[in-house]
Formats: sequence, C-alpha cells, structure tokens
Amino acid sequence: MSDMNSSTGPSSDSDYLLLAIETSCDETSVALVRNGREVLSNIISSQIETHKKFGGVVPEIASRKHVESITIIIEQALREAGVSLPDIDAVAVTQGPGLIGALLVGVVAAKSLSLALDVPLIGTHHIAGHIYANHLVGDIIYPAIALVVSGGHTEIVLLEEEGKFRIIGRTRDDAVGEAYDKVARALHFPYPGGPYVDKLAQEATEEVVLPRAWLEPDSYDFSFSGLKSAVLSEINRSRMKGESPDFSALARGFQQSVIDVVTTKAIRAAKEFGVRQMLLCGGVAANRGLRDRLSSLCEEAGLPLLIPTNKLCTDNAAMIAAAADLKYRRGQFSSLDLKAEPILSLEDWSV
Ligand code: KG4
Ligand code: ZN
Repeated sequence: MSDMNSSTGPSSDSDYLLLAIETSCDETSVALVRNGREVLSNIISSQIETHKKFGGVVPEIASRKHVESITIIIEQALREAGVSLPDIDAVAVTQGPGLIGALLVGVVAAKSLSLALDVPLIGTHHIAGHIYANHLVGDIIYPAIALVVSGGHTEIVLLEEEGKFRIIGRTRDDAVGEAYDKVARALHFPYPGGPYVDKLAQEATEEVVLPRAWLEPDSYDFSFSGLKSAVLSEINRSRMKGESPDFSALARGFQQSVIDVVTTKAIRAAKEFGVRQMLLCGGVAANRGLRDRLSSLCEEAGLPLLIPTNKLCTDNAAMIAAAADLKYRRGQFSSLDLKAEPILSLEDWSV
C-alpha cells in the first residue's frame, strides 16, 4: 500500500487543485490536493500539548488556538505545495460534526478564501473525510463497508456506490477512541492515551479476559461503556485486595475485547451485504492490533482491505479534500451562507 502523495508532475488543463481546511476538534490542518487524490501538502498543527494538562479537549481553548494558527497553516500549506492562491480551483472545509467554536474558525476562513478568490466552496462531512482518506492510498471498489473508529465516532457504513453513505451500525454510548482515552487515563497515561494502551497491549504477556458487548444477535451497533467500567472495577478490586493492578494485562484484555467486537461485526456486515471491499478509518485505525486482526480476517474472507497511512487516519485536511472531491466532480457546491454544524448527518451529505 503506498501513499499517493509523492508525484508533483506537470499540470494539464484538466488538473484541478483543492485547498481543504479541517478544524473540527484539536487539530488545525490545511491541505492542497490535486485532482482529489494527489496530496501536495497536508500540514497538521496539533493542540495536544495544550489540552494534555486538562486531560481532554477544552472547546473554548481549541477555538482560540485555531484562530491563532489558521492563517499561518494556510500559508505553510501553500508554500510546501509550491502553489499560490490563484492556482486554487475550490475551497473545501469541514462543516461538521465537531465542536461548534472550532468548526466556525475553519468555515469562516474557507468562506473568506472562496469569496476573495471567486472559487466554489464545498462544506464537507468529517466522517466522509475519514472514509475517503482511503481514496488517497488506493482505489475503492463498490459496494464497500467502512469501519469508522475515531475519538468521537464508531460506525459501520455501507457504501453501495461512490459517495452514498448508509449507516448500518453505530455506538450507543462511547466511541472506541473515547473508551481508549478513558481507559488510558485509569492506567495513568496522558491524553490522548489510545496509542499508549495499544503499545502496552502489544507488549503484554498476560491478559485479563474482559466481557464483549455483542448486543442483539443481528445488531451492528456497539457499546463500550460497560467494557470501560469493567477495566475500572478490575483496578479497584486489585487495590482493595492490597495488590497492584496488572496494567499491561488489563490493556491487553481491553484491546482484545474491542478488536474482537468491531472486526467480527464488520466482517459479518461485509458478508451480509456482499461487499467487494473493506475500508478501515478514523484515529483508532492507527491501532496496530486492530490493523493486524482486520487484515488477517479480510484475507481469510478473500476481501480486499484498504487502510490509510497513520498520518491520514487521524484528523487531517487531505482527507477532507478527498471527500470534497466527490462533490467537486459533480458540481455540488455550497453557498456562502454555509453554517458550521456540530451535528451533521452523514447519510444526508451523500452525493
Ligand atoms: O479520528 P481522530 O483523530 O479524531 C476524531 O475525529 O475523533 O481520533 C482520535 C482518537 C483518540 O481517541 C486517540 O486516542 C485514538 O484516536 N488513537 C488510538 C491510536 N491512535 C490514535 N487508539 C488506539 N490505538 C492507537 N494506536
Ligand atoms: Zn476525526
């Protein structure tokens, strides 16, 4: 699997350039993408160091930080891509879902650019971005199932054809990434703790077997809050007995339970809907254990699998350009009264 971001060959008349902005949470990101797939630059300025002290994202601080960095990041992205503002054919921006104050910064910047340059504006769905990050690393074959595992979302999405989204399962409580971050905090790791739990789970030699929330037999929904509570009560139980909890065995038990449930349901959905490809995406798609397990299950099922590179899994603007490209090619543009939407339906965003 290779990242299609290396070539910067000569432009032809049919080439087009999208500038994309992502500010839905705690990353300020701007990307320049040619023809919807060729990433010329993808600058990501993370606010993690700022939010770490609070153990999670503080919305008001996130928007202030976006304001401070957006212009600088736009300039940096243009410079790194070796292009200038008049080269841009359209401006894409994450319209939602996300933190309202954070989204607003990107939306205002995108509208200003669209107006000043007289180019179309494309309001883009954040989860469509995570899914279409896969289009930056390979060809998508339809129908496909996308397993979306991020800090704010956990969904199984059926794509019967390009740009048509149907959610067939979603979490009823915590998102996978959120559960990882809460468990990580109990294991004394800093925010965001997903990668630390992943590493500890990989290194563990023992496993505390924890419950799996399968829900109803035919359901594609998820629930992770019980699993998170099971980790916390194991920690308390050990402490009450005067023992020190085995953090690595707990990390492994937690990770195994999450991976078992999400991969089993995704494969079952792929079989039921007779899809031709599996797409993994969202921040938690960077998880080593999850990538490995899904790869082997897809191989067994003879199902091609796409997974974005780690940089394209977590929030970034190149993925927003990749999704916006669906609308650009169809001439489906947004008007300048586009609103930032903290809650935005993925299905309604379909082309
Ligand atoms: O998609 P994303 O960048 O932001 C949202 O849109 O939510 O996902 C961030 C989430 C965080 O919860 C982080 O802990 C988790 O992805 N994450 C991981 C790993 N890398 C990032 N979780 C488990 N294992 C990882 N290796
Ligand atoms: Zn995200």
